Amino acid sequence: MENPFYNRDVISTRDITRDELDMLFTTTDRIRSMSMQDRLEICNGKVLCYLFFEPSTRTRLSFEAAMLSIGGRSIGIASSKESSMEKGESLVDTVRVVDSYSDVIVIRHRLDGAARLAAEVAENPVISAGSGVEEHPTQAMLDLYTILKEKGSIDGLRIGIVGDLKYSRTVYSLLYALSKYDVDVHLIAPPLLRIRRESLYSIDSKIKEHDSIDEVIGMLDVIYVTRIQRERFPDMQEYEKVRHSYIIDSRVLADAKSDAIVLHPLPRVDEITYDVDSDPRARYFKQVSYGKDVRAALLALITNATPPV
Ligand code: NCD
Repeated sequence: MENPFYNRDVISTRDITRDELDMLFTTTDRIRSMSMQDRLEICNGKVLCYLFFEPSTRTRLSFEAAMLSIGGRSIGIASSKESSMEKGESLVDTVRVVDSYSDVIVIRHRLDGAARLAAEVAENPVISAGSGVEEHPTQAMLDLYTILKEKGSIDGLRIGIVGDLKYSRTVYSLLYALSKYDVDVHLIAPPLLRIRRESLYSIDSKIKEHDSIDEVIGMLDVIYVTRIQRERFPDMQEYEKVRHSYIIDSRVLADAKSDAIVLHPLPRVDEITYDVDSDPRARYFKQVSYGKDVRAALLALITNATPPV
């Protein structure tokens, strides 16, 4: 298969086919099995520029670690305070400038549409690392890869997505990506945090909605938990109403299947208690480690017409 990722922007998982996801996962497997010396050849001399206008630990560092692990380098800004946007420079001008310093741009922004705008302006490919409440496509890629590795396949699974489904952008990218697989999806959220209705038209999976996890916990193969996105609430009183409204602890997991897996894009606040970390079903830290390699594979494919993988 020709490399469909070469020079391409990654803004939404809606734009990516199942065959393309399969290719990404195969490339990830290959990269993971390569010697350090061979890996370092893949992006030798290439530069990634990150523009992070919102806080991040994992996404920015894993992109940086991924690029280093395949021989490339990263430059960038880790907060809006570090950039000339603080002096009034526009996003468009900022993107134009860093486009000339790098081979690929990775952007995170608090506004919907910011990543797409950057992609329109930049000549080099742009990867969204989270744009407003819309999407976080590379998180979904690593979520799917984790499910594939930890469960053996994605088709046929019952997947529960729990928490703040209204404002979690990871959920939207994951749902659009899961639409390409044969899965049953259970969305579990208090009424105030239910999925945004307008997004449902692009989700093809079989979906059922529930107010409480107790109704479905016993049948789920994957329990994907999200944090309440406090910073995205337009009204703090609404946040206060849903705060602490769901908690995954060992009592809840006592009813889960023995081979279920618990995932979370992280950061966790209080929605998964610390006692769950020692449960063998907790795989959220494994998910983080897969993330670096999935991002390395994506960077390899985007920046090389024929990656040496
Ligand atoms: C997510 C995000 O930024 O949307 N973080 C991440 O990249 N893993 C999830 C979150 O902040 O809750």
